[in-house]
Amino acid sequence: MNFDEVISARRSVRKYLETDVDDSLIYDIINSGILAPSAHNRQPWKIKILKRTDKDYIASLLLKKAALDNSIVSTANVIKEAPILIVIFYDDSGNSRDNDMLSLGAFIQNMHLKATSLGLGSLWIANTNYIKKEISEFLKIDLECISCLCVGYSDQVIKPRPRKKLEEIVVS
Ligand SMILES: Cc1cc2nc3c(=O)[nH]c(=O)nc-3n(C[C@H](O)[C@H](O)[C@H](O)COP(=O)(O)O)c2cc1C
Repeated sequence: MNFDEVISARRSVRKYLETDVDDSLIYDIINSGILAPSAHNRQPWKIKILKRTDKDYIASLLLKKAALDNSIVSTANVIKEAPILIVIFYDDSGNSRDNDMLSLGAFIQNMHLKATSLGLGSLWIANTNYIKKEISEFLKIDLECISCLCVGYSDQVIKPRPRKKLEEIVVS
């Protein structure tokens, strides 16, 4: 896939095959994240790779918050189904939080796109922010969880979701 094809093919995948993902592919994905730009090159990210029971425990923690948001149950089920959950933490760089959050977004998007280019599905998850404290406690990591990325082989064909047109977003 060339660059434009990767950008166009990327989807938020919410159904996964049981097939395991080779660790080398996960490291390829993370190495692509590492190449993302960051404010002052501070690289304010740390990650933890979760599989099976640890990942399922995160899903069960999230399900306890189901009443807070309609999409929580669906997101928890995706976490259970996908073979890999990459948990992304904010490693405070002493820079402005705004800049660091933008840098983290670039890190996650690079990984999301790399997964697509490798023929893998992925889902960027922020619903885990409802349980960010519980995640840090469970994993014994004294950092703030910012997002998660599910990764696995897709079990669905997804039509592109609607997008605003160029004219709608260019301010005259
Ligand atoms: C910051 C961020 C947080 C997201 N959080 C969730 C989530 O918690 N659960 C979920 O199912 N999708 C989540 N998504 C996926 C969006 O719903 C999805 O990107 C959007 O609907 C557009 O669809 P597409 O990615 O297939 O183009 C998130 C996406 C972003 C960028």
